[in-house]
Amino acid sequence: MTDDTKTSNAMWGGRFAAGPDAIMEAINASISFDKRLYAQDIRGSRAHAAMLAATGILTNSDAEAIGEGLLTVLSEIEAGDFPFSTALEDIHMNVEARLKVLIGEPAGRLHTARSRNDQVATDFRLWVRDQADAAITSLTALMKVLVAQAERGADWVMPGFTHLQTAQPVTWGHHMMAYVEMFARDRSRFEDARKRMNECPLGSAALAGTGFPIDRHMTAQALGFDRPMANSLDGVSDRDFALEFLSSAAICAVHLSRLAEELVIWSSAQFRFVAMSDKWSTGSSIMPQKRNPDAAELIRAKIGRVLGAAVALFTVMKGLPLAYSKDMQEDKEQVFDAADTLMLALAAMTGMMSDLTVNTAKLEAAASSGFSTATDLADWLVREAGLPFRDAHHVTGALVALAEKKGCDLPDLSLEELKAAHPALTEAVYSVLGVHNSVASRQSYGGTAPDQVRAQVARWQGLLA
Ligand code: ARG
Repeated sequence: MTDDTKTSNAMWGGRFAAGPDAIMEAINASISFDKRLYAQDIRGSRAHAAMLAATGILTNSDAEAIGEGLLTVLSEIEAGDFPFSTALEDIHMNVEARLKVLIGEPAGRLHTARSRNDQVATDFRLWVRDQADAAITSLTALMKVLVAQAERGADWVMPGFTHLQTAQPVTWGHHMMAYVEMFARDRSRFEDARKRMNECPLGSAALAGTGFPIDRHMTAQALGFDRPMANSLDGVSDRDFALEFLSSAAICAVHLSRLAEELVIWSSAQFRFVAMSDKWSTGSSIMPQKRNPDAAELIRAKIGRVLGAAVALFTVMKGLPLAYSKDMQEDKEQVFDAADTLMLALAAMTGMMSDLTVNTAKLEAAASSGFSTATDLADWLVREAGLPFRDAHHVTGALVALAEKKGCDLPDLSLEELKAAHPALTEAVYSVLGVHNSVASRQSYGGTAPDQVRAQVARWQGLLA
């Protein structure tokens, strides 16, 4: 299979007599995907060249030629006018080879005191850092939409569920704000990961650092990093930043999928709590009545890709000896796909939630059925009649059974029927059986009472302003 007539690699082929087998080239090359790092690669190279000139390692004129030439390469790539080559393996060598064509000899000096190992680590960190910023921005937009939903519906009563069985009445606003808290934690995970990843690997060279008198603080600063990484072995072999990004993305995707699932349930014919706008629904090619929540279903499913990417990269990294191994080239496609998926899901969820119509009458009717105020009745017996909660629970259970038998709800039972279950029950208990009173009574901090919800809405409006 070996094609001995091919010449060895122009970048590293000094000790090779023949070129690689075609299949070797196919498994080795990363240009098909890492071309996405072109802007980061050129930015990193320009910072490196400027530093090499400032430290006297390169002449100013060579560094200038390199810097200018790299800008030409950048505009060629951006114009879609760049001859990407698989034989040149990756973005780093594609850019450098093109620079050689453009400016000649000085191009060969750019790689002084650098290796592709610290180069790729730097490029990829810059890319992931941008994605963390994008996730933070997208999550902020989604949170604003959810807070607006919560403000509108701070006192809309709906059933709260446990086990997807009607549990107690809650407010729409409270439900929306639960997701605000979840997405806020997601946002802080990306912020936190961003802080930790913001150290610069450039200048770690192949693994051991370099004998050239480089200034790593200068390149770190030029690329917006807080400081250079303190250990060159760690600098080239660390992919924690990608793992942290993927972990944060996976948790965020879990939250998106939970909200998506609620939208699927709530928009079904059996619930009709919400109606998705036409912009976010699709029809069926055979059943004319259908309005399918495809976007919500797809968001629900996307966690599979994001978590899959996390599992894949964790698996690549486990057990890898220090420092760089080619295994690590497998980091990029996973992170690219997870980032694209997450950004799309966040944008779709933000759009769906801002265009959502809520059927408040349906919400309230559902909240009032299913004995949702049974706990309020039991609490009343504890508060007003001094019963131990366990006894109150038992009395209430008997009344639920009676209502169930009669096919009515708790407030429909007569006072005689209530008194027969427990003599301490009086007319006054009816007030707590109404769903509005039920939610209004839940004034504990973080509870579902509209006042509490409005307080949280105000707090978040301040934080998100
Ligand atoms: N394409 C490589 C990657 O993505 C760049 C680093 C290659 N380094 C090396 N020593 N072969 O990991």
